[in-house]
Amino acid sequence: MLKIAIVGATGLVGQTFLEVLEEKQIHANYTLFASAKSKGKIIKFMNKEYEVQELTKDIPFDSYDYALFSAGSKIAKEYAPLFAKHGATVIDNSSAFRMDKSIPLVVPEINFEDALDNLGIIANPNCSTIQAVLPLKAIDKKYKLKRVIYSTYQAVSGAGKLGIDDLLQDKVEKFPYHIKSNVIPQIDTFEENGYTKEELKMINETRKILKHPKLAITATCARVPILNSHSESINVETEYPFKIEDIKHYLNSFEGIIVTDDIKNNIYPLNTIANGTDNVYIGRIRRDYSVENGLNFWCVADNIRKGAASNAVQILEKLIQKRT
Ligand SMILES: NC(=O)c1ccc[n+]([C@@H]2O[C@H](COP(=O)([O-])OP(=O)(O)OC[C@H]3O[C@@H](n4cnc5c(N)ncnc54)[C@H](OP(=O)(O)O)[C@@H]3O)[C@@H](O)[C@H]2O)c1
Repeated sequence: MLKIAIVGATGLVGQTFLEVLEEKQIHANYTLFASAKSKGKIIKFMNKEYEVQELTKDIPFDSYDYALFSAGSKIAKEYAPLFAKHGATVIDNSSAFRMDKSIPLVVPEINFEDALDNLGIIANPNCSTIQAVLPLKAIDKKYKLKRVIYSTYQAVSGAGKLGIDDLLQDKVEKFPYHIKSNVIPQIDTFEENGYTKEELKMINETRKILKHPKLAITATCARVPILNSHSESINVETEYPFKIEDIKHYLNSFEGIIVTDDIKNNIYPLNTIANGTDNVYIGRIRRDYSVENGLNFWCVADNIRKGAASNAVQILEKLIQKRT
């Protein structure tokens, strides 16, 4: 039986790992890790009770085939290499390794083959990047991307349990201002060039996943007072001309995408449609008349599922299939 460690099992993404693993009935010997704070906590999973273990340097690192990580960058940098060195394949949700040239950054529908070429660690992209690259990959394949403009409207769950507390309890702990009454045009900290780290993650990770190192791309990321699922307005310019109806059919045929676009009946992607699913919903597909070959669309996905846990479990599932 496979042995799988879940690191960060008590967090929003960690809990969703368990939900998705159970849905997919991936049976294994699991060990759940979190911080000292959660040591001894009992979590019910796959009809069994698991006692949460504290992650320390004394655990038997050579006892795992796979490790799913969602405990932030600091813990990933400290512990993922220890699991990998002792033979486990780590799939990490933090930003610790994403831009490392030797580490694959994987969205299974796009570049699963890259995951096979790993040295023990595979990175899961940022939540706002994962949902955007699915339609972008489809468009690039057929019409060749020339330029991309992202504007995001990101849910508080993207900032973990503390983000949800700020909204529900009207606190100012995780975010710099009251999220309950504001749209905050800042996600993560600012860099010298005026961009936030989140905006740079979207730009750099998109280029890496699409294997388009020089793609012209910019981003503005905002936090909105919404519990779950990120929404994104995406504007693209393509090299080749397209017909809007063809784009709609073509996007809908791409694995993982559901086109939800019937404006006559006020139908377009909404958070309430995406919540709890692993699909990327695309709508408001229309021409941008300000440039040649310009396109606008709206993109919504569950940031905890497809944006984090489900994407990682899909990678795990495919690796297991490949190796057996
Ligand atoms: N939320 C999203 O939409 C999303 C999307 C993509 C990627 N991610 C990434 O996924 C990671 C987790 O995010 P989250 O939203 O699940 O955060 P979260 O709800 O705050 O959970 C954090 C998890 O990390 C654990 N942890 C903290 N310190 C630890 C330590 N010293 N040793 C072991 N475990 C420790 C926590 O355990 P305790 O409960 O014991 O503190 C908890 O299980 C982050 O890197 C985040 O950037 C999140």
